[in-house]
This record gives sequence, C-alpha cells and structure tokens, in this order.
Amino acid sequence: MTIADAEPTAAPVPSQSTYQSRVADYWNAEENPVNLELGKIDDLYHHHYGIGEADWSVLDPTDAADVTDPTDPSSPADRQERITTELHRLEQAQADLLASHLGPLTPADRVFDAGCGRGGGSVVAHLRYGCHADGVTISRKQADFAAEQARKRHIDDKVRYHHLNMLDTGLPSGAYAASWNNESTMYVELDLLFAEHARLLRRGGRYVTITGCYNDTYGRASREVSLINAHYICDIHPRSEYFRAMARHRLVPTHVEDLTAAATPYWQLRKQADHLVTGIEETFLTAYGNGSFQYLLIVADRV
Ligand SMILES: C[S@@+](CC[C@H](N)C(=O)[O-])C[C@H]1O[C@@H](n2cnc3c(N)ncnc32)[C@H](O)[C@@H]1O
Repeated sequence: MTIADAEPTAAPVPSQSTYQSRVADYWNAEENPVNLELGKIDDLYHHHYGIGEADWSVLDPTDAADVTDPTDPSSPADRQERITTELHRLEQAQADLLASHLGPLTPADRVFDAGCGRGGGSVVAHLRYGCHADGVTISRKQADFAAEQARKRHIDDKVRYHHLNMLDTGLPSGAYAASWNNESTMYVELDLLFAEHARLLRRGGRYVTITGCYNDTYGRASREVSLINAHYICDIHPRSEYFRAMARHRLVPTHVEDLTAAATPYWQLRKQADHLVTGIEETFLTAYGNGSFQYLLIVADRV
C-alpha cells in the first residue's frame, strides 16, 4: 500500500463562492471619489448612503466667482467642496442613526460589523461607546485600509478589521453585545447571514441593519431594482424576506423604520454633484419614487 505524499489542498481563506470572489474583486478595485473624497474629510470612510434634509445652499451658483482664483470662496472648486462636505454629513447621520440603536453598550462590550467596507461604521461605534469592534469584509484591500485607519487613530487595540466572509467568520460564539449590517445584506443569503449573527450575539444582544429592499406590495423586483443589482453585483431581497429569515434565527424585531423619504434628499443632491456621480443616482430616485424600493432600518433583539 502506498500513501500519497501530496499535501492536502488548503481551503482558501476566506472560503468563498465564485460569486463572492467577484464581489471581492469589485471592492478590491473600487476607487469611487464618492467614497474616497467624502472619507478624506475626517477619515471616516462610509460606503453607504445618507439620510436627512440637505442644506441646498451648497448648490448656490458661482456666477460671481473669479474662476481663476481657487481661493475665491465662490469658486467652482469651493462649491464642489461644499457639496462633498454636505453629502458626507448626510452619510455620517446615517451611521450615527445606526449606532444609536446598538446601545446601551459599555467599553467592555464587543460589537461585530458585518461587511464593514473601509471601516467607518466600526469607528463610529467605538467613538460612541468605547467598545471593542470587529469589522469583517470580503475585500482584502478594504480590510487593510481600515486597519491602517485604526492604527493612525491609535484605536487598533480595540477596533480590528478582518478579511473574512461574514457568513462564516470563525469569531467566538456568544461574544458580541451588538452586531450590524450597514448596506451589506444584499450580497448574501439572509438565512446564512442571520444564522451567523445569532451565533455571534449573546442572548439579549442587539442586531441592526440599514438596507435597501424591494417592496413586496409592488409585486416583484422592478426594472430599477434590477439595474441597481447589476450596477453593484448584488441581489436585493424583498422586505418580507428579512422578517421571515430573522424569525427563523432568533432575531425578534423591536423597531422598524422606513427611511425612504429621509434618504431621498441625499440622492437628489448627489445627482447634482458632477464631480462625484457614479451614474446610478437617477435609478435610485426613480425606484424610491415609484414605490418599488425602500430604505429600511430594522432593529432586533437576539432571544
Ligand atoms: C456597500 S458596502 C458597505 C460597507 C460598510 N458597511 C459601510 O457602511 O460603509 C458592502 C460591503 O459588504 C462587503 N461584503 C459583501 N459580501 C460579503 C461577505 N460575504 N462577507 C464579508 N463582507 C462582504 C463588501 O466587501 C463591502 O465592504
């Protein structure tokens, strides 16, 4: 009898499907100004949208501007900067709203940021509660970027980022007081996702998501929802599926808020930001306007 001496093939880390590899490729390559320019303002990098009324005065015309003088406060460059700052303020308001639902938490508590992007949400939670945070993203580049940001802020002892699949993190069971998905549920099967949150959260822990979902009352996914799916390589779920899947995984909603109206000014402003548009702005506005798409906050207790 001979024993094969070939090394066993190690499973890739994180273990992921071909689809998940394409999602990782997308985020590894992503360099959109709307994500990077906004984040540079205060080193809080968010890859989600914004909520609340916009300050429309940032759009004021620059007719009187001396276009040859970049220091003229009414120059086109200054107008662009004002719009960028205002969009960032609206994104920050969204991150703050999500974080406000995670508590109460103490500095001894640990939170889990599923699909953390370039890491802004974990920093926001840490600054608010002093808690430990673990952010995971399927993009190696994002995880490295976020970790570097935490090092620069000297919070890397409490805020850590991992290149992991959020469906199968290997992080410790029952160790987390709160967890969330900020615009990252549309990349995964909800049953697998909520099973992992339920495993990680301690009993009585808090789960929060802000997400775009399609509206069951519209029927099926609209043309605009399909265009958004194609744009981001994602698969937007119907609203109903969130509650079914949560119920199957010991997550009991305690607060649900339709943020669709609150999200609309962000898109109206972003549509006019020529230096930041990605081409999907009108599609979001149509989808919100025709009732096929909703922006939802769901808060749930892990029982
Ligand atoms: C729209 S971004 C949101 C990022 C972040 N939550 C924020 O609000 O800034 C979607 C994120 O989901 C992550 N993602 C998608 N599928 C994932 C998976 N299976 N495991 C971990 N992260 C995933 C992407 O890498 C990306 O960071």
